[in-house]
Amino acid sequence: MRISVIGCGYLGAVHAASMAKLGHEVIGFDTDEKKIEQLSHGIPPFFEPDLQEILTEGIKRGNLRFTGDISALKDASVHFLAVGTPQSQESQAADLTYVQDAIDELCRYLKPGDLVVGKSTVPVGTAEKLTEAVKPTGALLAWNPEFLREGFAVQDTISPDRIVYGVPAGDAGRKATTMLDEVYAQALVEGIPRITTDLATAELVKVSANAFLATKISFINAIAEITETVGADVITLADAIGLDDRIGRKFLGAGIGFGGGCLPKDIRAFTARAEELGKSSSVAFLKEIDAINLRRRARAAELTVEALGGQVVGKKISILGAAFKPNSDDVRDSPALDVAIRLRSLGADVTVTDPQAIDNAKRSHPHLNYEASIERALVNANAVLLATEWSEYKNLDPNWAAEVTSDMVIVDGRNCLDSIRWREAGWRYFGMGKP
Ligand code: UGA
Repeated sequence: MRISVIGCGYLGAVHAASMAKLGHEVIGFDTDEKKIEQLSHGIPPFFEPDLQEILTEGIKRGNLRFTGDISALKDASVHFLAVGTPQSQESQAADLTYVQDAIDELCRYLKPGDLVVGKSTVPVGTAEKLTEAVKPTGALLAWNPEFLREGFAVQDTISPDRIVYGVPAGDAGRKATTMLDEVYAQALVEGIPRITTDLATAELVKVSANAFLATKISFINAIAEITETVGADVITLADAIGLDDRIGRKFLGAGIGFGGGCLPKDIRAFTARAEELGKSSSVAFLKEIDAINLRRRARAAELTVEALGGQVVGKKISILGAAFKPNSDDVRDSPALDVAIRLRSLGADVTVTDPQAIDNAKRSHPHLNYEASIERALVNANAVLLATEWSEYKNLDPNWAAEVTSDMVIVDGRNCLDSIRWREAGWRYFGMGKP
C-alpha cells in the first residue's frame, strides 16, 4: 500500500516506520522541519527503543521517507492522521486545532477512493465532522485508534493486542475495511483480533481504554491512602487482589501516579466531552480519578518532608527520574518533575537525574538542577526520592549509594525497591502506601 502519515510525533513517527517495516511504501509529513531532517537521516527525535533500527532499515530499503511538503502525499492512497490532540490552554477539553489544520491541508491533495484514517485520540463525534470535510474530495474516512505505549511503541504497533476499525455504514465501510485489511495484512494473518465498528464506538474505545487504565491506577492509589493511614501494605494487597483474574495485577502499581501526554489529558477531555453531551454525571468519577492522582504527588513530597524530620529548607534531595515513566524521555505532565518542583518550592536543594530525559526536562523546567551522572546527583544527598522506575535505579546497590550520600534516607515513589535489602543496608526506607 502507498501510505502517508500526517504528524511525526511519538505516534506518527513510530507508525510510519512500522508501516515501512511491514513492507508498505510510506511517506511521513510534519510541519517541524528539524524533525523531518532528523527522521530523514534515521535519527528518532525522541527516545524510543527499537525505533532507530526500523527507521534506518526503512530509509535504506527506500520505502520510507519524510517530507515537510504536504503536496508530496498526493501519491498515497491511505492517509493516517497522527497529529497531537493536547489539552486546550483555556479548558480541560482536547485542542483539535492540529487535527483540523491537517485535514484542511490534506483535503487539497485527496483523490476519489483515497482513505483517510484517524489515529489521534479525539472526542467522540470528531470523525463524523471530519467525514463531512473530506466528502467533497471523494475520499473516505475511517477511525483506527492507537493503543501503543511509549517504551514499547514499535512492538505495540507491529503486533498490537487488537485492531479496531471505525468505519461508515454500507459500501463505504466495506471499502474502508478492505483497504485497512490490506494495511494490516500481516497482523491479521498472525491472528490478532480485529474489531470493526462505527466511527463513534471506535473513538470511544480509545478514550474508554485510557480512562479505565487511569481508574485502575487511581483505585490502587486511593487504597494506598487508606493502607498508609492504618499501617497496612498496599503492595501485598495489590498482589492478593491481582491474583483474581477478573481483576489482574497489571496497572495496580501504587506510587506517585500517572503522567505523560495521554492518560491525564484524555480523562479530562473525556469529562469535557461528556459535559457537552449533557452526560457529565456519567463520567464525574474521572474528576476524582484525576484528584487522587494529583494527591499522590503531594503525598510523595509530604512523605519526603516527614522522612527528613519535618523541614527541608537547605536539605539536598536527589530525585531519581524525570521521565513520566521508564524507557521514555517524555516529561509531559511527569509526576517526577511535579514532585521535584513541590520540594524545591518548600526550600529544598533539589537535583534531578535521568538516563534519557534531562534535555527535555531542562527545556520544560529550566529552573531545576540536573546531573546526568547518578553518582554526582547523589553526592551529599540528605534524602533520595526514586520517582521513575528505570532499571538502573531499581538495581541500585544500597551499599554503594550509602557511600555517596550524606544521609541514608530513601523514599521509593514507585514502590520498586527491595525494602528489606535497603533497610538491612542501614537505610531508612519509606514506600508509598506501605508501613
Ligand atoms: C497510555 C496507554 O497505556 C496506551 O495504551 C495508549 O495508547 C497511550 O496512553 C496513548 O493514549 O497514546 P503511555 O502514556 O505510554 O500509554 O503510558 P502507560 O504505560 O499507560 O503509563 C502511564 C502512566 O501511568 C505512567 O506515568 C506510569 O508510570 C503510570 N503507571 C502505570 C502507574 O502509576 N502505575 C501502574 O501500575 C502503571
